[in-house]
This record gives sequence, C-alpha cells and structure tokens, in this order.
Amino acid sequence: MSQASNIESVLVENRVFPPDARAQQGARISGMAAYDALCAEAAKDPDAFWARLARENLSWTRPFTRTLDESNAPFYQWFGDGELNASANCLDKHMGTPVEHKTAIVFEADDGSVTTISYRELLTRVSQFANALKAEGIQKGDRVIVYMPMTIEGVIAMQACARIGATHSVVFGGFSAKALQERIIDAGAVAVITANYQLRGGKELPLKAIVDDGIAMGGCESIKSVLVYERTLSDWKRVEGRDKTFTEALNASEGQDECVPEPVGAEHPLFILYTSGSTGKPKGVQHATGGYLLWAKLTMDWTFDLRPDDVFWCTADIGWITGHTYVAYGPLAAGATQVIFEGIPTFPHAGRFWQMIEKHKVSIFYTAPTAIRSLIKAAESDEKVHPKNWDLSSLRILGSVGEPINPEAWMWYHRNIGHEKCPIVDTFWQTETGGHVITPLPGATPLVPGSCTLPLPGIAAAIVDETGKDLPNGAGGMLVIKRPWPSMIRTIWNDPERFKKSYFPEEMGGTIYLAGDGAVRSEDRGYFRITGRIDDVLNVSGHRLGTMEIESALVAKTDLVAEAAVVGRPDDVTGEAVCAFVVLKRGRPTSDEESMKLAAELRAWVAKEIGPIAKPKDIRFGENLPKTRSGKIMRRLLRSIAKGEAITQDTSTLENPAILEQLGKAY
Ligand code: WTA
Repeated sequence: MSQASNIESVLVENRVFPPDARAQQGARISGMAAYDALCAEAAKDPDAFWARLARENLSWTRPFTRTLDESNAPFYQWFGDGELNASANCLDKHMGTPVEHKTAIVFEADDGSVTTISYRELLTRVSQFANALKAEGIQKGDRVIVYMPMTIEGVIAMQACARIGATHSVVFGGFSAKALQERIIDAGAVAVITANYQLRGGKELPLKAIVDDGIAMGGCESIKSVLVYERTLSDWKRVEGRDKTFTEALNASEGQDECVPEPVGAEHPLFILYTSGSTGKPKGVQHATGGYLLWAKLTMDWTFDLRPDDVFWCTADIGWITGHTYVAYGPLAAGATQVIFEGIPTFPHAGRFWQMIEKHKVSIFYTAPTAIRSLIKAAESDEKVHPKNWDLSSLRILGSVGEPINPEAWMWYHRNIGHEKCPIVDTFWQTETGGHVITPLPGATPLVPGSCTLPLPGIAAAIVDETGKDLPNGAGGMLVIKRPWPSMIRTIWNDPERFKKSYFPEEMGGTIYLAGDGAVRSEDRGYFRITGRIDDVLNVSGHRLGTMEIESALVAKTDLVAEAAVVGRPDDVTGEAVCAFVVLKRGRPTSDEESMKLAAELRAWVAKEIGPIAKPKDIRFGENLPKTRSGKIMRRLLRSIAKGEAITQDTSTLENPAILEQLGKAY
C-alpha cells in the first residue's frame, strides 16, 4: 500500500491508501473499473444480476424461475420457487473436487492444542450428527437452540440442523439462563444442543447447568431433548429421559455416515438469531436459506477476495451473526481453510492472536476494533506481547467488523499487523443484513481510515432525512437501503408487525430498509462513514445491547430498584460503555462503601438476567431521575452526565434540579 499523504490528521481524515499492485493483481474484483462494471450490471437489471449470481454460486436441487417477488413488500421473497440445502452447498458440493481433502477447519483449543478436519471428514461428522438429530425426532421446520462453545462441534451442530431442514437459533455462550429461557420460549424450540462446559482463558465455565436453569424457569415444555457435547471430563448433572451425550445420540442413530440433505424452499428459515432492538424484548431476526447463503459465499469472494490457498480466520463467536456468516457458512460454502479459536485473545498472553497468525500462516484475518484497541494497549505496556515478536508475513488481507474503527486504531492495524502491505476491509453490516453491505474491496477500493467506503454491487445504500429524502454528501442523516437484496432479514420471528415498524417506516414509504445507524458521505469520494446508532441500541465491544433491555433487567430487581435509565457513553477500548442511573426503593445510599456494594449487587443481577456483557460499567444513584415537568426522563441530559460533560442544556424545566449533583458520581 502506498501512502498518498503523510499528514497524520485525525480531525479531517484525508489519508488515502489505494490498493497496490500485489492486492490488485489477480483479484476477483480488480480495480475500480471492475467494481463499477458490476454496479452497472446490478443497476441495469437487478433480477438478471442476482439470478446469474445465484445460479453460478449455489447448487439448486430445484432451479428457481422467479428471482425477486415484491408482491407482499416488505416481506420480500428471493428465488422463492427454487429448492436447495445449505449444508449440501457447504459440504457435498466440494466432494469430487480438489476441496474434498482440503483442510476445512484448523481448530485451536484454549490450551493451544490443534485439531484439523478435512471437508470429507466434516461431511461425515455433520451427516452422522444430522442422523442423530433425526433419531431424536427432530424434523424439518423444527427450531433447535444451539448453546455451544467455539468448537468444531458447534459448527457441526449448525450444519446438521441445516442438513435436515431444522431452523437453528444459536445463543451466545455468555448469555444467562434467563436469556436462554426467553429465546427457547419465543422460538418454540424442541431441542437444545449444548456442551457440559466451555473453556475460556484457562477456566471451565458451565453451559449445561445454565440450560437446566433456563428450562427450569418454566414455559419450556416444547423442549424434548438436550444433547450434550462433553467438552471436558468434568461431571455434569443429567436429567433422565431428556439428556443424551453426543456419543449416546450418535449411537442411537447407529453412527450412520450418510444423510441425504433435505431440500428446502429458498425462503425456508435457515436460522433465527436474536439481537437487541429498541424495546426490552430481543428480536428474532429470521434469515432465509437461499439468499443468505448466496451472500455468505459471494462476500467471501468479493470482500475477502478468497483464493484457494488462503487461510481465513474470523475471530467472531458463532453466537453472533459474524460467526454465522463468516465461520459456520461463508468459508465452507467458498471452500476455504479456516481457523477456529476456542479461547480469548489475552490468554495465556495478549500476543495470542499474533502467535496464532504465525503458527497457522493465516492470510486473511478478520476481527473487531475492540480487540484491536485492547491489544494495542497491551502491546504498548508490554514489549513481550507486541506483534513485532511474531512473523506476520503470511497476511494478505485484514478485516474489521462490528463497530466503527477509529483512524488511530486503523493506522496501528495497518502498520503493525499489515506492515503497510495489507488492505483493511472495514465491513459495515448488521445481523439483519446477513452479510457485508458497505465495504471496501481489497483489490479495488482506495481506503480511507475510519470509512467503510462504498456499497457492494447491487446494494442501494443512501443517506436520507426523516421523510426519506436523499441528503447531499457531507450532510449527516439516516442510513437506508433502498432496494431489497437477497440476504436481507425476512421477518422478526413471531412478530411481523414489529418487523415492518422497525425496519420499513411508513414515513419513508414502507419499502425502504432503515438500518438504524447514522451515517455521512464524504464530499470528495462519496464514501460512507458510520456515525453510530440512532436508536436505543448500544454497541459495547462490538456487541449489540438495548438500553431498554438493561433497564427492564434492573427494574426486575423489585426488592431494590424503583426506577432505572440506561444510556451509553464513549469508551476508549469498548467503543461504548453502559451507564445506568438508578433510583433505589430504600433511598440513596449514604456512603461510598454502601454505593459500591449496591453497584456490585446490581451488576451481578444484570449478569444473571442478561449476561456479563450487559453489566453496567458505571452506576449512578439519585433519589430521582431528571425529568421534565411532564414526567419525561431527560435522556440527553443523562448522556451528558455519563460523559462527564459540563451541563449546557436548559435544566430550568427540571422537576428537581438538586439530583444533578447526586448523579455526578459513578460507581
Ligand atoms: C455496528 C455485526 C461501523 C452498526 C456485524 C450496526 C459498524 C451494528 C460496523 C450491527 C462498521 C457493524 N463500522 N459500525 N464496520 N459494523 N457496525 O447486528 O452500528 O451485531 O448497526 O452485526 O454494529 O451489529 P450486529
């Protein structure tokens, strides 16, 4: 990469990094003219464009004749009369090709031990497990919860569901029993696939016991079986008649090695993934089989410019959308060799990622800005974990996902990890978009730190005002996508009304997808920069959390909490941090000691209600919350307090101005 400008300005980002000859040569989309040509093809006849790509990239057991059906917008349907199977498109498709005996997954366990599995072996393991699921009575259309650690078995569980046409709903292993129970009930799941324990950072953390607790909370009568992968030798409690180990389940199906993939309609729900929205209840984002899988495969080729000898490593957990599209489906559909890592980036030391890149000769590395920022901090305070200690010359492309990457972190990533030779693809997307929608292409797009640059071909991204009117470059507004695309969310499970209301506002005509993010396009290039959520969603370490969700959790502690309000504030490492304002039933704590004790109790409570990722970093106690005379909580004011800003807002309408001082201290 050549650096066009050496001015280290962070205020106005004017550094541009065009792809060098190495990145451009042989790239699938090489140079901006090739990108423009694809965009033009998509604009001219979108149906023909998507139909061509769907035929070229997927194997269909029944070819589709209809590409996009808009008759029931915004419930768009893609390739609706076609049939295929997602697992067949990730595994069977490669048999008899050079990919058959290629390594599919290089698994590095928490303790550093490595297991590899070829595509052929993975197909056998997935087929065996699919047969085990069938022997449990699980059928096409049933919902199955996957609550698994980052392991080959986690991917096998997802692929096996897809193989028999069951819809999986993966729940991140850091979510609580309560969160799990809510998802089981909402999805009406018939089975849970889990592990006895997960291993992270040298510790054994229970999974199966949390499943038991969740089911015991009630309302989960739909669950008929719980399948337990014995990740460790430690004991776990068995519920007779309901629980089986993986081995027992496999034996029950007599270890049959073959399982014919069940053809499903292209619109058949491949999975439901719960994510936070602007109300207290997480929404079950439903994705369809055909369009989603097309996108997973296509973006591996477009965004990562995948080549046969690449070693791809996406560090995301399968519990998040990134781990769905760029661990469980995309790399397999594209025939890549990928690394899967069980542990955490700081164990046994904060050089673990760099050491693993060297060890596995990773060529494409995809991670989140939070991880980069925390590893920068670690490298700056301890020479021994600085990336310079490892050979990173195998790297070809770097990626970033989940939150805005600040230009300083971008530059560090570029210099210290990419050695100024690797393009950085800053991929903007969401659980709802299924895969990347705005992102640079490594062999084409000139990069600007902190910008996700331009939409992928066929993605009609724009920035508009509240009425849906286009805004000029330079003006901040709401990010929308004006035309449907194959991998878009199909509905919110069990709640089509919420789907329409959340994403297709009437004021904009009811057919334009509203992303929920603010964005601005640069005056010179029209590049997109995401400025953050415009709803009540926080992004903490790249994890999506709803402020209302945390508020509901806090007020559910009825013996203690009378009222709570949650806002975000900027944080150097995690991007945003959760800040809770709490009114206690018993009145304000009278000492620091009492405040700290109560804050700890509330954090533990939120961890139990939602999961440790939702724990408020700051808790502030007031005898009341700042409200207008009409009783509305003044959230803008709370955000200023959370940031530690001087209060400039008009507080004359405050019912009780004295509480501003009380809220000044965070615990
Ligand atoms: C944010 C994660 C800036 C954004 C794939 C979005 C980003 C939310 C980027 C979705 C990026 C994701 N630059 N912001 N490159 N990528 N976001 O559903 O606010 O967990 O709406 O999907 O993350 O989070 P989700």
